[in-house]
This record gives sequence, C-alpha cells and structure tokens, in this order.
Amino acid sequence: MAAAAPILVTSALPYVNGPLHLGHVVGAYLPADLYVRYQRLKGRDIVFVCGSDEHGVAILIRAMREGVAPQDIVDRYHPLVRDAFEALGISFDHYGRTTSAVHHETSQDFFLTLEQAGVFTRKTDRQLFDPEAGLFLADRFIRGTCPVCSYPEAYGDQCENCGSSLSPKDLIEPKSVLSGAEPVERETTHWYLPLGDLQPRLQEWIVTKPDWKPNVLGQIGSWFNDGLADRAMTRDLPWGVPVPDGVEGEAEGKVLYVWFDAPIGYLSITKEWAAEQSAPERWRRYWQVHEDGTTPQLIHFIGKDNIVFHTLIFPALLMRLNDAIEGETYVLPAQVPANEFLNLEGQKFSTSRGWAVWLHEALEAFPADMLRYALATTLPESKDADFVWADFQTHVNSELADVLGNFVNRALSFAQRFSGNVVPALHGPNAADRAALATLADFPARIGAAYEGFRMREAVQETMGLARLGNKYFNDAEPWATRKTDPQACANTIHVALQLCASLAVLMDPVLPHSAAELRAMLNLHDVRSSTPDPFAGETPIGWDRAGQPLLPEGHELGESAILFAKIEDEAIDAQRALLERRAAEASGEEGTSTESGAPYEALKDTIGFDDFTRLDLRVGRVVAAEPHPNADKLLRLDVDLGFETRQVLAGVRMHMTPDELHGKHVIVVANLAPRSIRGLESQGMLLFAENRDGQLIPVLTEGEPGGVVR
Ligand code: 2FM
Ligand code: ZN
Repeated sequence: MAAAAPILVTSALPYVNGPLHLGHVVGAYLPADLYVRYQRLKGRDIVFVCGSDEHGVAILIRAMREGVAPQDIVDRYHPLVRDAFEALGISFDHYGRTTSAVHHETSQDFFLTLEQAGVFTRKTDRQLFDPEAGLFLADRFIRGTCPVCSYPEAYGDQCENCGSSLSPKDLIEPKSVLSGAEPVERETTHWYLPLGDLQPRLQEWIVTKPDWKPNVLGQIGSWFNDGLADRAMTRDLPWGVPVPDGVEGEAEGKVLYVWFDAPIGYLSITKEWAAEQSAPERWRRYWQVHEDGTTPQLIHFIGKDNIVFHTLIFPALLMRLNDAIEGETYVLPAQVPANEFLNLEGQKFSTSRGWAVWLHEALEAFPADMLRYALATTLPESKDADFVWADFQTHVNSELADVLGNFVNRALSFAQRFSGNVVPALHGPNAADRAALATLADFPARIGAAYEGFRMREAVQETMGLARLGNKYFNDAEPWATRKTDPQACANTIHVALQLCASLAVLMDPVLPHSAAELRAMLNLHDVRSSTPDPFAGETPIGWDRAGQPLLPEGHELGESAILFAKIEDEAIDAQRALLERRAAEASGEEGTSTESGAPYEALKDTIGFDDFTRLDLRVGRVVAAEPHPNADKLLRLDVDLGFETRQVLAGVRMHMTPDELHGKHVIVVANLAPRSIRGLESQGMLLFAENRDGQLIPVLTEGEPGGVVR
C-alpha cells in the first residue's frame, strides 16, 4: 500500500495588534490542534504551521494612535500571542512571523514571478486620500455610517455590526480614522489580480470539493454569483512588505496587500521550519506535488471571515504561480474547514467594548485542558456558538470531574487497594467484561472518523463516551460487592477498567494533552506516540490504532495516582463574570452603570438641536411584501406602503427575523433618506429597529396609519 500523502496544516495567522481572546481560539487554532494531534497519533507525516500576521492596517492604526512604530506594536504582541498558544497546548511545529526576512523574500519573489509572467494588470484610478495625514486611506482607514444598518462606526470594507461587505465610497459621511478629516479623491496606480478571468477555472476546481463544509461552499457560491472582480494586490502604505525591486513603474513607496503576503506566510513559515530541521528543502514535501505524483494535503483552518481569501484568492495566486513556473507544482488546498463565530455570554466579542475573555488571562485562572475541553465542546462548527462561564463550569464539573476523573479515580484506587497497585490477571471474563473490551476496540475508528471528517465536537463527545462507558461498566460490575463474594470477578473488573483507562490516556490526548500525559504517568504507561512535535519518536510506540486493544499487561505495576480534575468553585466563575462586567463598564466609560444582565448600555451620542431632529421625515409604513434579498444573505427586501406610495426598502435584519415576522406590520420609516443601491437593489428609505443589549434587533411597531407623520 502506498504511504499516505504528507499533510500540511495551517491556522490563520493572527494579527498581532492585541492579545488573543477565546473567540479567536475556537476559530482556527483549537480545532486545528485537535486534528493535528490526532493525525500525529495515527503516525501521519504532518506539519503544523502558524505565525503572527504583522502587517496590515489595524497594526498601523494602533501604532499611530500610540505614537510608536508599528514594529514596536508587533514586537509587543508577537511574544504574548505565541506564548498564550503554547500555554494552551497548541502544538505548532513552527510559529513564525511575517516581518521575518524569509517571509519578505518569499512574498517578494512570489510577486515578482507573477509580475514577470504578466499576471497583474496595472490600473490608475481615484482613491480616497487623507489630506491632513498625507496618506491614501486603504480599507480600514475609513469609517462612516453603514448604508445597510446605520451603524455609525462601519469600516470602509465591512460593517462589523451587520456583516455587510462595503466599499469605502458606500459609507455615509466617511471620515479618516487617522485625522478625522473628510477624505478626498486622488489618483494612484496599483497592481491588480484579474480574478474574474480565473472564475471558470476556480469554479471547475471547487466542483471537485463536494466534501467541503456547507458554510464554506455557500460563501464561495455567493462570491461566484456576484462575479469575481479584479483585486488590487498593492497598497499605498508606510508599513508592509515593499513591492520588490525589479517591478517597473511607480512602485515606489508601495507595499504588498496584506492579504497577498499573509497566506504566503504559510509557505515562508514552512521554509523556516525546514531550515530549523537542517533540511532546507524539506518544505517542498508539503507544498509541491512529488515526482511520483504524491500530492500533499494542504489544510487551512480559518474563521468564516477568511473564507474568500483561502478558497479563491490564494488558490488563484497559486494557480497563476504554477502557470508561471516550470518543473514545480504547488498544491491547492485540499480542505478549508472554516468555523463560524463564538459569542460571549450572548453578545459578540468586542475588544473596543471590553467584551472579551483574554486567553492569557483565562490560562492564569484555569488549567489549559479545562479550557480546551469546554471550548472543544462549544466549537462553532456549523453555526455561531456561545461561551457562557456557567456552562464552562458545568462542562468541567459534571463531565471532566464527575465522569472522566471519577472513573479514572475509581479504577486506580481499587487497583491500589485490592490488587497491590498492579494490573490483575483476567481469568474467565464474564459477558459484561467481554462486551466492554469489544466496545473499546471500536472506539479509535469511531472517534477517528469524526476527526477525519472535521467534526471535532463529535470526536470529543465520542471520547467522553468511552469514559461514560467505563463508569457504567464499573457501576454495573459492583466490584465493592464482588470483592467479598467473587474475588476473581472483582480482579477482572479492575483489569478491564484499567485497560479502559489506558486507552483513554491515548484517545483523549488530542483534546486533553496535559491530562492524558498525567494519566499515562499514573498508569505508568510508556511508549505512547507523541502528539506534539517529537523528532525522537521511536518506530513502534503505541499509536491511535492500537489504542482500542488492551495496553497494560498482567502484573504491570501502576504509578502514583492523583486527582485528574479539581472541580471549579462558584466563586471562581463569579470572579470571571465580574471581571467581564468591569471591563465592559470601563470600556464604555460608565463604571458602575452595568446592569443585571452584565451588558453595558451604549453611550449617548452628542446632543443635537431641535432643527437637526426636524430634518428627519419619519413616517408610518405597512410592510406589504417581505423576502430575502437575492444577493445578500444579511438583507431582507421589503415593499412598504407609505399611504401615498409604496417603496422598496432593504433592511439588514435577516439574521434576526424571518420575512413573515415583518409582513403586515406597521413600522416606522425614515422616508427622506437618500436612496442607496445595495447589491443590485435600491433601498428607498430605512426602517427603525430597536437593538436589545444582546444585539437582537426588534422592529419598532406602531398602530398609526400608513403615511402618518411620526414626530
Ligand atoms: O483575519 C486575520 O486575523 C488575518 N490576520 C488572517 C490571515 S490568515 C493567512 F492568510 F495568513
Ligand atoms: Zn451595517
């Protein structure tokens, strides 16, 4: 049988303009680590890379606000982020950074190769420029009011409130983030990737990926429906990888677009890893089709906001690179398991609102494995999920401590007390003993199938199923009773229970690597394959597939046992909730005004004059038709009868209500708002919605008649 292809796993390179929070962890890092540790135990040839994404506008903005150099910002957060990953047990083979020389060189070479092959088109057009700061305002340098949901702090490329993707010119009253000045238009030249030309090829390729997750294929489908547009691959910014020497024409002062260089970071970081192994060419084994046709599997773990970059833009760049070079073929991603988002106690994570649990702080309060386990059971695999401190406590106390820890503790303490701390012989096992061992034999394949299918939550559930099986087996066998009536039956129970513990000590390793190692020490179980990078791993250690067989021989001496998971007291959870509330209150500048639910009220806007108010023409409208917007998954398209006429209005509320819930309702419409076109349809007004503090939008209803003035 041919050896399985090598695997390269990547986790999205996090921007290091601040620490990591739990929302980041569940997207691209913990699921990748579960998968990689499982594959290492399977004995697969796998490399896991990640690193800090150190370019991009967010870092530059932070630096400008603090009055320091961007390099100072990334030098501050890169070690913090790297160390937090390590403390959580995220087992990268290499964690790099995009300011490294290898990365700059790799991305510049990539760009130059494409440029010399004539891949890019150069276009000069008018872009927004901050006349006070003297800079072009790319992407996130511009903020203004979202045309879809009226959120006043929408970015030039996206509204974080309703998720609509925007272009800076869509924003109402745009302002420069740097100086607050109103941007002006100026001419500039950039290098564009003609992505539209590649759409047919990308479509043909995506058709070969029916096993990708529905959320990923859904997003890709809507990008194809909208038609792929040319994308600028350069920016006018003072921070980033400079456009390389050798590129002709007006390249001075320009840098590569951060989404051009960041995915190339996966490649440059693999190169750094290879150099560290003293095998500088070994990166090719994971990135390029081998001479014998073996195709390495490239797997990108990401959050849902990164889907287009990993499934369309980076593959398009790799396709063009392959066209441009000879004798080498880079692989395209085999899988892109993107996760949805995690909320925190019912609200979106928000750094600016102080609504976050910082990973490095959580790790000071709780052991890494508890966080790993609770987060793994809450992964937002198919829809957004919610992290709630009370649930965290339940997962730890009722599952880790009461099920897994309790079973291990009972098995080990019986062995200690009644079999001299050695594994007793199994003689004449009864039906229950045989059934337990037979069921055990199926577990590696069952759990493994879930990991292979990127269903991490299911894998964790199945793993816990083995501990539940152990507890039930132990209870039903009643060794405390058979000890007096049938000592061999009692010895058999201890034997089987210890085998279940030993298997658990391998199979729980991906999710609970620290506790699995502790359990192996208690069982004195050695020769288990490492789930962390281990260049000294021997040839025949116990791996995943053997973990369904009895691993402890008769007479095997056990180690010293200890409690595997201490329960979490209510006070520890209360302290976390109080910390969260305090942070949120501090962030809103309203210390002490936090409310029962823990969420702060939004700060009041600046006072306006009565005249400002009377400029708004608010009318009662009746919703006479409501349906999803055909091209935008956040929007509803409504026909609203204003008495004197019927208007088409688009509302960014599809995540909050069904069309039926609005149909027939009398609502309040801002009737003199200039019309705006959104994804091909014109919106001729705006509906009013009230936002609850959990972010839920509720229509503002009235009993007034259509056309009536609201004052
Ligand atoms: O969204 C982000 O945090 C980006 N820094 C992810 C980059 S992924 C990759 F392409 F590097
Ligand atoms: Zn919006």
